[in-house]
Amino acid sequence: MAATIIDGKQLAKTIKEEIRQEVERIKLQGGKTPHLGAVLIGDDPASQSYIRSKVRSCEQCGFASTLIQKPSIITEYQLLSIIKELNDDDDIDGFIVQLPLPEHIDEEKVTLAIDPKKDVDGFHPVNFGRMALGLPSYLPATPNGILEMLKRYKIETSGKHCVVVGRSNIVGKPMSILLANKSYPGNCTVTLTHSRTQDLAAETRRADIIIAAIGIPNFITADMVKEGATIIDVGINRVDDVTAKRGYRLKGDVDFENVQSKAGFITPVPGGVGPMTVASLLINTLRASKKEVYD
Ligand code: GUN
Repeated sequence: MAATIIDGKQLAKTIKEEIRQEVERIKLQGGKTPHLGAVLIGDDPASQSYIRSKVRSCEQCGFASTLIQKPSIITEYQLLSIIKELNDDDDIDGFIVQLPLPEHIDEEKVTLAIDPKKDVDGFHPVNFGRMALGLPSYLPATPNGILEMLKRYKIETSGKHCVVVGRSNIVGKPMSILLANKSYPGNCTVTLTHSRTQDLAAETRRADIIIAAIGIPNFITADMVKEGATIIDVGINRVDDVTAKRGYRLKGDVDFENVQSKAGFITPVPGGVGPMTVASLLINTLRASKKEVYD
């Protein structure tokens, strides 16, 4: 039987509409308009496209947004000054600094300079630590988007074996912690796998839920998947395609065509996890403006 396709694009639309309605209510009651700041350094086309989509989504939901764009020659000191201004600006509820940054700027230093109360990306160690302890925090966008998908498709997670493929600080590592936490979605038995894992296929074949976040197109093939498993594909890989208008096509980490018939639930690329990440950022920004995480 073919898998149920998890429609991230539709789900993100639904969440954004829920947020829009809540913001409308807040404004009618004289409350604060949520305000997101976004910093973009340089002219990387992928980063520009992500930032555009984030700012557009803010507008759709009735948020205020402030986009600060600077050329890649900006010094680290200048960027840290911009961050200080955003930290001190009472109208800005939360802000993000789009990554990657130019090589001469230390990303760790930049992340640490952001006030955890305004860190709606959830990248600051304070937010990571709070997340790991199950305390209120801003959850990183991709793992939070995946939790929303599991919740809204009512996918059972308790006692299930989840195999996370990839140990990045923004996806694999937090995802493995969140799914092991005592909550729903959560209560999973989690295996975190990576490039040094021996016999990865043996691990994924035991999984009720696979989170693929490695950045290699078609890496997860049908023989690596158990019948009926839930497959979440985080990969956004650009592969050359002369027939495509832009000269490339987006491919996930999962061989969707062949895995689809074996899985229980599966996310497509594009239109799966990707759109959910922007919805997560809006959720965090709204929580920041309502002072739900820190007061
Ligand atoms: N670059 C790729 N993904 C992200 C993200 O979620 N936040 C920021 N700030 N930069 C990114």
